[in-house]
Amino acid sequence: MATFEPVLTRGIGEIDLTDIEVYKQTGGFASLDKALRQMTPEAVAGEVSASNLRGRGGAGFPTGKKWSFLPNDGRPRYLVCNCDEAEPGTFKDHMLLEATPFSIIEGLIISAYAIRAQKIFMYIRGEFLDGYRIFRRALEQATLQGYAGRRILGTDLSMDIVMHRGAGAYICGEETAMLESIEGKRGEPRLKPPFPANAGLYGMPTVVNNVETICCVPPIITRGAAWFASIGPEKCPGPKIISVSGHVRKPGNYEVPMGIPARELIDDYAGGLLPGRRLKAIQPGGGSSAAIFEEDLDTRIDFDSLAAKKTMLGSGGFVVMDDTTCMVRASQTLVRFFEHESCGQCTPCREGGQWVARMVSRLEAGEGSASDLRVLNTINNTITGTNLCPLGDSIMPFLSSVLRRFPEEFEAHVRMAGCPLRAVALGATG
Ligand SMILES: Cc1cc2nc3c(=O)[nH]c(=O)nc-3n(C[C@H](O)[C@H](O)[C@H](O)COP(=O)(O)O)c2cc1C
Ligand code: SF4
Repeated sequence: MATFEPVLTRGIGEIDLTDIEVYKQTGGFASLDKALRQMTPEAVAGEVSASNLRGRGGAGFPTGKKWSFLPNDGRPRYLVCNCDEAEPGTFKDHMLLEATPFSIIEGLIISAYAIRAQKIFMYIRGEFLDGYRIFRRALEQATLQGYAGRRILGTDLSMDIVMHRGAGAYICGEETAMLESIEGKRGEPRLKPPFPANAGLYGMPTVVNNVETICCVPPIITRGAAWFASIGPEKCPGPKIISVSGHVRKPGNYEVPMGIPARELIDDYAGGLLPGRRLKAIQPGGGSSAAIFEEDLDTRIDFDSLAAKKTMLGSGGFVVMDDTTCMVRASQTLVRFFEHESCGQCTPCREGGQWVARMVSRLEAGEGSASDLRVLNTINNTITGTNLCPLGDSIMPFLSSVLRRFPEEFEAHVRMAGCPLRAVALGATG
C-alpha cells in the first residue's frame, strides 16, 4: 500500500478537533484567512474549478461547474450543506460532523464567499443529535472568535449559518426535498427544471453541497488546485472517505486517494475478509448501487471506473458481503428500505417498490413462486428511469445485479421453500 497522508480525516481519533484552540494549532482557519484576505470570490471559485473536485454527495457533479450555474441577476443566493446522510452503508459525514466540525464551518464560509451567498443553511439529519450539539457548540465558538457571523476576521464579510434538523426521512437528502423541508413543507422532491441554481431555497439561486465536498475546499485553497488535481485520476481526483462495512476485519471510515483498486481497500485498509470466507458481492456506492463481484476486485474506486462497471461510487458506502450472505435476504433488506422511504409522488416508485418488496419477502419466507422470479427479472425497465427523483431508480440496481449473477440462489428459495444457506447453517439436508 502506497503511503497516503490523510487530509480530510487528519487528526481524527488522535486529537480533539472539536476544541477550537486545537483546530487552530493544526492550521485551522488559515485557509479562510487566505481566501478572505488574499483572494477574490472569483479566484476562490476558480481554484475549486481547477481542482476538478467532484461532489461527494452521490452524483459526482463537478463542484466548480455547479457554482458557476448561479445567475448573476442580483437576487440573494443561498448555500445549503447536505448533512442528511441516510444512504445505507454510508457514515462518513456523520464522522466529519462529530469529529471535525470546524473543517465544515471553515469550508462553508469559504464556499459561501466564493459564490457570494447571503446565508448558509446547515441541514443535519434528525438522528444525529450528538453531531447537532457538537456542531452548534463549534458554531458558537467560531462566531465568538470571529470566524463566522459578523465581520469575519475583521473583513466586510458577514455570514450566518442557520442550522436545520431533519426529522428522519431519507428522501430529505435529495436536494429539492431538502429545500422543501427547510421551507417548512413536507419533504418531497420538486420537478426539475427549474434547478436549484435558478430557483432553489425560497425560489432564490441556491447551491446544495455535501459535507465532504465542503470539507475539500479549505485544503484546496491552502495547498492549491494543482495539488488536489494530482491525487488519483485526472477527471475525478482528490482524497475520498469510504465507509467500509460488512464482512471485513476492520470496518470503518478510510480516507484513500481516489482511484485505488477495490482489492487494496479491502485488504490493506479494512484488514481483509473474515478468516476462511470468500467474497460474494460488494455494493461500492451505498444501498442504491448495483453489486460488483470477485472478478471486479481490480476495479478502481472512483466515479468513472465504477460507472464503467455499470454501478457507482455514489456516496462512498462500501458494503462487503462474503459467502455466508443470502442474496435474497440482502435484497429484501434494501428493497424494504426504499419502499418505506418512498415519498409516494410517483407510481412506479410507490407501487413498484411495494410490489417488489412483497415478492422478495415472499421468496425469503419460502412462499415465493416461479412467477415472482419472472416478474422480478423483467420489472427493472418499468421502475427504473420512470420517476421524479433517483430514489425510485435505487430500488432495482442491487436486486437486478444479484438476480443476474446468482439466479440459482433465488430459484433455490422457491424449490426449497426457504433459504438454502440457512438450511446449511442449521445442518438440514433437503
Ligand atoms: C434519495 C436521495 C437521497 C440523498 N441523500 C443525500 C445525502 O444524504 N447527502 C448528500 O450530500 N446528498 C444526498 N443526495 C444527493 C443530493 O440530492 C445532492 O445531489 C447532493 O447533496 C449534492 O452535493 P454535491 O454536489 O456536493 O455532491 C441524495 C439524493 C437522493 C436522490
Ligand atoms: S421517485 Fe419515489 S421518492 Fe422520488 S419523488 Fe418519486 S415517489 Fe418520491
